[in-house]
Amino acid sequence: MAIAIAVILLLAATVVFHFLSPWNLTPLASNWGAIDTTIEISFWVTGFVYIAVNLFMVWCILRYRYKKERRSAYEPENKKLEVWLTVLSTIGIAALLAPGLLVWQSYVHVPDDAHNVEVVGQQWHWMFRYPGDDGELGRTDPRLISYDNRLGIDPDDPAARDDIVVTSPRVYLPVDRPVRLNLRSRDVLHNFTVANFRAKMDLLPGQVSYIWLTPTVEGEFNIMCAELCGIGHFAMRGEVRVVGEEEFQSWLEQQTTFGELQAREAPDLAAGERHYGTCVSCHGEDGQGNRDLNSPAIAGLPAWYIERQLKYFRNGVRGAHEDDQYGGQMTAFANTLPGPDAIRDVAGYIEHLEPEDQASTVDGNVERGKRLYRTCGACHGRDGEGRRSTNAPRLAGVNDWYHLRQLRNFQEGVRGAHPDDMYGPQMRDMSRILTNEDDLRAVIAYIDTLTGYEEQSNTTPELAGRNN
Ligand code: CUA
Repeated sequence: MAIAIAVILLLAATVVFHFLSPWNLTPLASNWGAIDTTIEISFWVTGFVYIAVNLFMVWCILRYRYKKERRSAYEPENKKLEVWLTVLSTIGIAALLAPGLLVWQSYVHVPDDAHNVEVVGQQWHWMFRYPGDDGELGRTDPRLISYDNRLGIDPDDPAARDDIVVTSPRVYLPVDRPVRLNLRSRDVLHNFTVANFRAKMDLLPGQVSYIWLTPTVEGEFNIMCAELCGIGHFAMRGEVRVVGEEEFQSWLEQQTTFGELQAREAPDLAAGERHYGTCVSCHGEDGQGNRDLNSPAIAGLPAWYIERQLKYFRNGVRGAHEDDQYGGQMTAFANTLPGPDAIRDVAGYIEHLEPEDQASTVDGNVERGKRLYRTCGACHGRDGEGRRSTNAPRLAGVNDWYHLRQLRNFQEGVRGAHPDDMYGPQMRDMSRILTNEDDLRAVIAYIDTLTGYEEQSNTTPELAGRNN
């Protein structure tokens, strides 16, 4: 009797929990309502069976309770019962499978008027490509992937020149227009998932998979990777903005085409040196930094990183937080640079300054730091040398007191929390694996022992390549 009551209570609790559970599907924002219906049908079928089986169990417990004089009957065959069970389970399984097959039929058949967008995943970042005016995505080949050509687009294919390359993980889609997303991976398995769209699909290295959908609601939605793809999997996120056609077109026009990327000029180092005059008073003649002025060493930092930071300081993406008193100082200086060319030139000049070892000022358990650094090293490189492909700057040869301040800034949302910061959120997530002050200091003390600053900067070959 007690067991029967327990089973009934458990049954009631699960059913009540199902309806009161706070974990619901996110609001639907695409045409794939049919996928929700399928999930619902599955819930009803499995829910019905779950309740029926449990009630049957309760009935058995009560009906066949132990009685001294009762003897069980031997009944190895029961045709009637077998027919019933076979028919019922056939109906149940058909009800589970049939809706999915019907949805799959439309899931794999892309409408003719769908426009193409390419999604490229890599550890742990999303990139995108639009076909440009000709409506055609140019050819790609993994062997063509380089610092300059991160998607491996074929420069000899005329259809590729007007392709629009988006290397930041934020992407726009027009509302109410079917889109075919062509999915490629640069390294391992990933999975492109936007919960609100319902449609999702694996990315496989060496082939192009696809999904299609029609965004039906304007708004911002998270892109997640739903395939365990390494140490930074949880931080492989992006954002899709579904907007009206007009806003979409104007965003698209602001993006850079593959042809423009190829034609980008190498920095003018002499001009860069002149512009660097503004930086000298704080960061020093040779970019060696000045602790007393809270100015970190910047010599030899990769140009792409310096460029991005200067732009962020100018746009208020970095340094505008009320608690970022040192970042705020940089905003004023960054704004004295006349324009994009000056930024490119000064960044190129800084990259060519010779980096050096920095005095250590932060104490910590180096052994522990070494273990913790494995996560950082996945993006920043084993020797802290930095990696362009993961958008991660060099850490070795950068002042430890600067690292301490920046890691705290990331943890507290002083840096990396601005809505237009494309790369900060990843560091914000990552910095939070350091849950206490000891771990924070340990990893910084270990970074201080790294010698990656001795290696040639990543972008130098890129610049040399452009001059040829
Ligand atoms: Cu990519 Cu998980």
